[in-house]
This record gives sequence, structure tokens and C-alpha cells, in this order.
Amino acid sequence: MVKKILFFASGNGTNVENIVRFFEHDKKVKWLGVFTNNPQAGVIERSLRLGIEVRIFSKKEFSNGNLLEEVQLLNPDLIVLAGFLWKIGPEWIAHFPNQIINIHPALLPKYGGKGMYGNHVHLAVKENGEQESGITIHYVNEEYDKGAYIHQAKVTLDASDDVEQIAAKVHALEYEHFPKVIAALIYEQ
Ligand code: GAR
Repeated sequence: MVKKILFFASGNGTNVENIVRFFEHDKKVKWLGVFTNNPQAGVIERSLRLGIEVRIFSKKEFSNGNLLEEVQLLNPDLIVLAGFLWKIGPEWIAHFPNQIINIHPALLPKYGGKGMYGNHVHLAVKENGEQESGITIHYVNEEYDKGAYIHQAKVTLDASDDVEQIAAKVHALEYEHFPKVIAALIYEQ
């Protein structure tokens, strides 16, 4: 059976692109689109180039139930947050139990929570002199970055790594692991 996947993203969209390319020849995957709150996001052009529909939504639509209704009609098997920063409301979780997953660019429970995204995470990791960082792919629940972990992967940091180098190491892990985790999830269903 075809698995329908919907992305939520508000950044550059390199993970979206990497995931789409991973499943390029997979007839069992259908992309429902990329939903974004950020009309300036790089993910928009990237997705359109890949032939994926983009839906830009407002804060109001996100919180008043209209967007949720729209997504329910699309009936996704999986919702993938790939660099999406807004908190997912409990009504979303209730409608899509264990069907919303997120990638976080650190080894949760460290460096999670509100405000911890992108380079803010890597800067905090650097300032604390961590010798390793990594990624956490997890189910989304009512609390930021607190849902059950699906997969974690680590990378060793050098004391000389700057924030950009840490980000690059973590991104490399994301590109390697996120598509495979998605594949495992949709094929076990
Ligand atoms: C990724 O590194 C992802 O882990 C992070 O945003 C980046 C998006 O990059 N997500 C968070 O920080 C969520 N708290 P991309 O737009 O190039 O895929």
C-alpha cells in the first residue's frame, strides 16, 4: 500500500530534499506536500524544484483548527517535522497518535526545549565543551522534544570544532539516518 507522507518545515529544507531523494525510486511513497509557516523559507523553492506542493500557513490557521482539518482530509500515514519550530498542539497529537515524528539536532534530553533549534543548539554544545553530539529522532508529544525516542546517533566532536563544523557533523548524521528511520517506520506499518 502507498504510504502518504506530509512534511512540516520552516528552514532551509535540506532534510526534506535528502529524504525525497532517498525515496526517489520508491513507488510506495507519496509526498502529500510541505507545509510551512515561513514564507521566506528555503524549503519552499527546494520543494517546488522537487515537484512537491507547498502550503504556507498562518499562525491563526495552525491554532484555530483549520489547518488540522485540512491535514485530516489529506489523511497522512506519517507527518515528518524536518526543521519545524512551532509547538504541535495536543489536538494534533490526539488526531495523529504516533504518526508525527521530529528530528532534533542533539542528543536529547540534553539541549532540547523551546528556543533550542539549529545553531542555538550547536552553540550551547560548543560552550559546554561537549565531546560528542548527535541527533534524536522521536515521536512528537505535547511537550517540546519529550516524545519517545525512535533513534539516536552520535558523533565525536573535536575541541577545535566551531559551531559551523558541529552543525556540519550533525547534518551529516541527519542525512544518513533520517531517511532510513522513516523507511523503517513506514514499512513496519
Ligand atoms: C535540522 O538540523 C534539524 O535537526 C533542526 O533544524 C535543522 C533544519 O535543517 N531542527 C530543530 O532544531 C528542531 N528543534 P534543514 O531545514 O536544512 O533540514
